[in-house]
Amino acid sequence: MWLMTITVGLVTLVLVTWLRDYVKRWRMPPGPFFWPIIGNIYFFSGRMYTTCTDLAKKYGDVFSLKMGMTDVVVLNSLDAVKEAFVKKGVDFAGRPYILSMDIFSEGGKDIAFTDYSPTWKLHRKLFHGAIRGYALGENLQTKVHESLEDTIAEFTKMEGQAVDLEVYIYKLVYNVICSAAFGVRYTMDDEEFNTLMKINKDTEEIVGQGLLADVYPSLRFLPSPTLTTIRKMTKQYMGIMQRHLEEHRETFDPSNLRDITDHMIKAQKDAEEEGIQDINSLTDTHLRQTISDIFGGGTDTTIFTLRWAILYLAVYPEIQEKVAAELDSVVGRDRLPELSDREATPYTEATILEVMRMGSIAPLSLPHATTVDTTLRGYQIPKGTWVMPNLWALHRDPDTWGDPDVFRPERFLDENGKPVPKPAALMPFSAGRRACPGEAVGKADTFLLLGGLVQNFRFSIPEGEGPPDLTPDDKTGGDTCIPYPYKVVMTCRK
Ligand code: HEM
Repeated sequence: MWLMTITVGLVTLVLVTWLRDYVKRWRMPPGPFFWPIIGNIYFFSGRMYTTCTDLAKKYGDVFSLKMGMTDVVVLNSLDAVKEAFVKKGVDFAGRPYILSMDIFSEGGKDIAFTDYSPTWKLHRKLFHGAIRGYALGENLQTKVHESLEDTIAEFTKMEGQAVDLEVYIYKLVYNVICSAAFGVRYTMDDEEFNTLMKINKDTEEIVGQGLLADVYPSLRFLPSPTLTTIRKMTKQYMGIMQRHLEEHRETFDPSNLRDITDHMIKAQKDAEEEGIQDINSLTDTHLRQTISDIFGGGTDTTIFTLRWAILYLAVYPEIQEKVAAELDSVVGRDRLPELSDREATPYTEATILEVMRMGSIAPLSLPHATTVDTTLRGYQIPKGTWVMPNLWALHRDPDTWGDPDVFRPERFLDENGKPVPKPAALMPFSAGRRACPGEAVGKADTFLLLGGLVQNFRFSIPEGEGPPDLTPDDKTGGDTCIPYPYKVVMTCRK
């Protein structure tokens, strides 16, 4: 009898909640039918950005989904993203609670996964200062050149072989950002390099597969091998960041700041000495999390962009030769490309923009959350609703691009080969308050690295192999777009 009562009680509760959610939905953007408890969970898998692009054709460019029992609004057009993230910036500048990200960020003490708050503002400010001091301009250029020299020597030894360059690209990019972040450069067999790379790759896969406890946070108390792995990886990863922090502290000299880690220690010491309230936001956990955001944000994104770039250039040799010819005429062969060459190399710049458009490495950006009850297009969006901008849809919109599925750098140039104003719909770094703070580094880094590689090597598809698949690998779900593993043959240009 009691079992019957509990069952009836539970079913009634589920139905009442479901009906309440349906009533709430009347005032929210339209969307497909959703089931009790599971909502539309089946849409949150595979290449979710293409599913959303298709759903937008039926429900409009702003529509609602239910991820389990959580409301999610998806923005599929430039106008919608601008209205939400730019016009109503603060309303849409929050981050939702995601259990796995809460673990990675040690309770939201980083920049990327912390909610809109004074701590987030303080760390974005520190981020900008750190980047300006150690990862832009001459500083960045020197680090890229040092890293490129090693990689060019390694690639030269592999001339003529079909190689998957992924791990080499990891090292190339890590050595730029790690040198800026904590002053280290790795060799291929370095244990720390291999641990960091493994954790990053495993994280991509785990996040891509989706975690039930991210959808239903109350499940976090149940034993889960994935959660155990995430906790273990976080401990290992943050252990490395903390060790760098402690080593820096032992040799810290305020009159000779060496890198981003020193910059963060100085901010902490200043707050301690001045007794300002920021001190609670500048614990060691906050420091290692911000350093880790600079490291994590600055490596994976550039690695994915370079992997797409090399793949597209190998598939389209005529475009690769145009880039190489432009670099030859502007830079020559006696030095590596420099930041001052960017203006005189519009074709190379246009090719990078086209790679960012076609690659759309963060197709749904990072999820935002509304900070207050707000409205969009006259629809109500309650506080705490997840908001996902579908950057993939913006980058593949036929009305904006005409031939969105064609790789064509010329779309960013006029008939004289000069750059045209960049279409606002190109938004690889997202927009508004939460827009990527590393945009300038990402663009400069990609130019220097790709320019240096194409100046020195011709990348081609191994003979006898058909054209590689340019569809993004689906193992990372909707979170990132990366190419399937591929091999290229390198020929030295010199
Ligand atoms: C090709 C390169 C890059 C791309 C395409 C990219 C893209 C993005 C995107 C789409 C976001 C989410 C924005 C949003 O929430 O709406 C983001 C956030 C972020 N990115 Fe980047 N990024 C790149 C390079 C970098 C670099 C080089 C750094 C660090 C040096 C970096 C650090 C960050 C951080 C810290 C955030 C979180 C910002 C916040 O939540 O306030 N990114 N990035």
